[in-house]
Amino acid sequence: MIDKITVVGAGNVGATTAQRLAEKALARTVVLVDVIDGVPQGKGLDQWESAPIEGFDTRVVGANDYGPAAGSGIVVITAGIARKPGMSRDDLVRTNADIVKQVSQQVRQHCPGAIVVMVSNPLDVMCWVAKEVTGFPRERVIGMAGVLDTARYRAFLAEALDVSVEDIQAMVLGGHGDTMVPLVSYTTVSGIPVGQLIAPDSLAKIVDRTRNGGAEIVAFLKTGSAYYAPSAAAVQMVEAIVHDKKRILPCAAWLEGEYGLSGLYCGVPCKLGKGGLERIFEVALTAQEQAALEKSAGAVKETMKTVTL
Ligand SMILES: NC(=O)c1ccc[n+]([C@@H]2O[C@H](COP(=O)([O-])OP(=O)(O)OC[C@H]3O[C@@H](n4cnc5c(N)ncnc54)[C@H](O)[C@@H]3O)[C@@H](O)[C@H]2O)c1
Repeated sequence: MIDKITVVGAGNVGATTAQRLAEKALARTVVLVDVIDGVPQGKGLDQWESAPIEGFDTRVVGANDYGPAAGSGIVVITAGIARKPGMSRDDLVRTNADIVKQVSQQVRQHCPGAIVVMVSNPLDVMCWVAKEVTGFPRERVIGMAGVLDTARYRAFLAEALDVSVEDIQAMVLGGHGDTMVPLVSYTTVSGIPVGQLIAPDSLAKIVDRTRNGGAEIVAFLKTGSAYYAPSAAAVQMVEAIVHDKKRILPCAAWLEGEYGLSGLYCGVPCKLGKGGLERIFEVALTAQEQAALEKSAGAVKETMKTVTL
């Protein structure tokens, strides 16, 4: 375990992330920070009171300021708002960019050595805002999207094939959103190429469902969006860092020429360890996958243009 992990935003994703971090005992203290008076304090206390039952010694504390977060080794940022009626997508981007800017200034001041795991949407753009405002190197600002998208893809495949989720290896790259790129060519079931086990039209349907995985949950919930799988995904990244596991996970990383792309965040295979992003793997893509990745990157760059730092 490390000394301290802070989760900014005590909403659905943030609070569930804090709970999972504590239950896995990944830090001595988990600090929940939110602007709403009482919410992080109440949720933190409630979670800490579950410790004797769940058997963890991680203290969960809530705050409205960053004093208790000082010196955190990892900061997970989930602060933001969801789109409200009458709000355009660009309005949402600007509002969340302002929130992430403000949070990042606090992180720079109070947690200068932290590794930031970004969760707030639009993910790839918020990663860039955090990297610019904190001034941290790309090794210390990483985005969570690919782990979630890949988990959805693996869950749907396991269901269709009636096999264990553990035996599905897959990778979803690209931007977080409709333009994500599930790599069918790298999807295997215990080493067996998935194409040998499932008909092309069934696989195409699963790829499509993965692409719309977030919207499928929103349609059920009506208000709010997914948070159980998103928090599990963020925690898997934190766990890889805390335990220096050197896991290869699809994460949003700042690209400097990899895959022929630079100057933006995009989902690529990353090695995560105690240094944060330790390596980006460049794997061979089919012409179709490369084109999809470039289209996805184009969409991210368009959204970046709507934000002034
Ligand atoms: N990357 C992904 O794959 C993924 C998946 C799910 C959700 N998300 C995103 O995560 C974010 C959080 O989702 P949620 O469901 O938890 O939303 P939520 O509305 O339940 O929680 C957001 C919280 O952020 C807080 N907040 C707002 N401004 C803040 C600030 N300046 N400082 C600290 N806290 C602040 C709010 O008070 C609220 O408690 C959203 O942007 C959502 O789109 C991303």
